Amino acid sequence: MTTVIKGGTIVTADLTYKADILIDGETIAAIGPDLAGDETIDASGAYVMPGGIDPHTHMEMPFMGTFSADDFDTGTAAALAGGTTMTVDFCLPDPDQGPLDALQVWFQKAGPARTDYSFHMGVTWWGQKFFDEMPKVVEAGINTFKHFMAYKGALMVNDDEMFASFTRCAEIGAMPLVHAENGDVVAFLQQKLMAQGNNGPEAHAYSRPPEVEGEAVNRAIMIADQAGVPLYVVHTSCEQAHEAIRRARQKGMRVYGEPLIQHLVLDDSEYAHADWDHAARRVMSPPFRDKSHQDSLWAGLAAGSLQVVATDHCAFTTKQKRMGLGDFTKIPNGTGGLEDRLAVLWTKGVVTGRLTMNEFVAVTSTNIAKILNIYPKKGAILPGADADLIIFDPKATKTISAKTQKSAIDYNVFEGVEVTGLPVMTLSRGKLAYKEGDIRAEKGDGRFVERPANAPVSKALSTWKELTAPRKVERTGIPMSGV
Ligand code: URP
Ligand code: ZN
Ligand code: ZN
Ligand code: ZN
Repeated sequence: MTTVIKGGTIVTADLTYKADILIDGETIAAIGPDLAGDETIDASGAYVMPGGIDPHTHMEMPFMGTFSADDFDTGTAAALAGGTTMTVDFCLPDPDQGPLDALQVWFQKAGPARTDYSFHMGVTWWGQKFFDEMPKVVEAGINTFKHFMAYKGALMVNDDEMFASFTRCAEIGAMPLVHAENGDVVAFLQQKLMAQGNNGPEAHAYSRPPEVEGEAVNRAIMIADQAGVPLYVVHTSCEQAHEAIRRARQKGMRVYGEPLIQHLVLDDSEYAHADWDHAARRVMSPPFRDKSHQDSLWAGLAAGSLQVVATDHCAFTTKQKRMGLGDFTKIPNGTGGLEDRLAVLWTKGVVTGRLTMNEFVAVTSTNIAKILNIYPKKGAILPGADADLIIFDPKATKTISAKTQKSAIDYNVFEGVEVTGLPVMTLSRGKLAYKEGDIRAEKGDGRFVERPANAPVSKALSTWKELTAPRKVERTGIPMSGV
């Protein structure tokens, strides 16, 4: 079966031009004028863009005594409604579980996915078995390993564990990811705030100031550099973190930064809200920052020092958030955003002139595909690429509301935000997966996307290390003993 998308304006990370797209089965067969197929989708007046890729989601994540409320069914329905055709989740082994066993559990969980998907492997503990199984994880199509520098006593790993794991990543063509916050300092500040009687959601933000994130990003970059491996910093939320990434990149290091749509748009005034539920629903790590940090993140996206926009979609219901009534350290950390990422980024980024349309495609799709080593199968409008496409109507408007969302939770952190520019149709590998409010993809339509190992040399960090490799000095003048 062939389908032609007719009359649209194609927008890629590089180009904007008018052409039709011929889809044959699951892939793009041709791009050009006056194409014909068995079926036709009219895209006149709209933009045709690569489907969004969200490199950071948590479906049904076991976390802080509960599970995030969107599973792979509802979460990926939300993704499609928001123009996202691929999600990358996190496989998190239990303390007594090897990564390969954990992967089987996550494959089970992802069975109902409606979008294509992949995983990052969480390095939730460190030991011989983890070290031994890492190459097999890469063989299974997972080339990224996530390290939590926060959540002390739970997911956190120490510097020696990170260095060992990063070094292993370098050997096997994988890339480490970090959740960068100094977990020891956070734990101390949490205790101190609670002891002072500061137990509300606003104290969550006080316990995780930007300095704590900046320090951890600097430390992770240093460790990655010594291990000779590139680094990806998830949920980069503040100028201190961005500055560290910028500086490293200027020195030739391959360090990537991932702001979230939430941090770009929402700020810490949310925690000052008189309504406990309102503030608690916005508790995530890192927390929302004061507005000055948003300018830094937007500038980074425009300048290329930050490369991708994700959501870290980790949705908890109000009831779950209330587990932390009287103790902010027990409020499950996480917010949703998967359904709104593209529309909000377009509205606050492209419509305002902060980003070009091509930059929009780069940061929501193409750059992600390149960094995660799945380009041009994903993230491209090219013959042979998967036909993951969105028909984006720049004139369509809506007011974001939990009442109309696909996500399973009872609120939306973007409630009331008016967006201009919406994905009206989403195609997933050539199949219409979403149209104007209706999810067309079935449960289980999504497929696992293998992400092969990176070529170690091309992805290595700065080359200066070879020039300054330690060399033993040969000496002729050896002092005589006893002199
Ligand atoms: O608060 C957050 N971000 N929850 C999800 C887990 C994580 O740290 O990414
Ligand atoms: Zn995190
Ligand atoms: Zn409220
Ligand atoms: Zn996360």
